[in-house]
Amino acid sequence: MKIGELDFYESLFLAPMAGVSDVGLRQLACEFGADACWSEMLSARAMLHNPRKTEFMTLTSDAEKIKVGQIFGHEPDVMAKAINNPLLSHYDVIDINMGCPAPKIVKNGEGSALMKDFSLASEIIKSCVKVSTRPVSVKFRLGYDKDVSRDFGRMCEESGASFITLHARTTMQGYSGKADLDAIARLKASVNIPVIGNGDVVDCESYNRMRTTGVDGVMIGRGAQGRPWIFSILKGGEKPKDIYKVIEMHVKILRQHYSEEFLVLYLRKHFLWYTLDIPNASGVRLRIATSPSIDDSLKILKDILK
Ligand SMILES: Cc1cc2nc3c(=O)[nH]c(=O)nc-3n(C[C@H](O)[C@H](O)[C@H](O)COP(=O)(O)O)c2cc1C
Repeated sequence: MKIGELDFYESLFLAPMAGVSDVGLRQLACEFGADACWSEMLSARAMLHNPRKTEFMTLTSDAEKIKVGQIFGHEPDVMAKAINNPLLSHYDVIDINMGCPAPKIVKNGEGSALMKDFSLASEIIKSCVKVSTRPVSVKFRLGYDKDVSRDFGRMCEESGASFITLHARTTMQGYSGKADLDAIARLKASVNIPVIGNGDVVDCESYNRMRTTGVDGVMIGRGAQGRPWIFSILKGGEKPKDIYKVIEMHVKILRQHYSEEFLVLYLRKHFLWYTLDIPNASGVRLRIATSPSIDDSLKILKDILK
């Protein structure tokens, strides 16, 4: 997939995941072969009114080949102002979140609530495209409670989006059921801009199934939690022999930016995900979940992984 000057090569992407796709996971994902990473979703309003709060979420690493910054909001003028905020200046693409199902976002008419208001969604895209010197893309779901993805995708294209990403579930579904690959294929056949397919890709089998929809790119979220090497596996490589080294690198990257006090709690979920492939590790997980320090957790992980 190519968008202007940007070459996305095999177009295998790490998904935006609030509270998960931190600068460490993104760096590792790219080192293992991801062709681009999305930032966690960033509030357009917060960027304008409280930039300090957003700043730490806009950190990127040089390993990220193409950087996509994702913003959310419901006010076309605020979204358009956010596009040219200095906090987003190092991103190559600006993505608009129109798929988040979280109640606190939807209640404000943001994220996937915009799928119920095509005209506001279109106004937001148009106002962002108008002021942006970079490609603007949109990530959305099937719809709020029914599949409107083809019409929504066409609206995105007509409003000036350079490409679109579909997580093939409705808002009401949350993460239940299966991603609807037929809907992704239908969307792909209905628009002239590139389509990225997203939902439930966790291994070669599910990846190949997603590719049969004809999509231009594939985005992986939960399948990369605790397994940033999934990108290498999908590109024909192997799982790294020394998993502990990967974990150590994740910690090292985050320690360059965040306080120990923040990381001790924040890293627990990543540590637990890194142990998911280890059989009979429930005792280890319990020890990590109650571990008082990062070094203590690392020692537990080193013992079990070496
Ligand atoms: C913890 C978590 C946080 C997420 N945060 C975002 C987000 O900030 N922006 C977004 O567009 N999607 C977000 N998503 C949705 C993912 O990008 C993706 O669409 C979804 O997980 C389906 O893909 P998967 O089956 O590969 O996980 C999030 C998902 C999870 C699990």
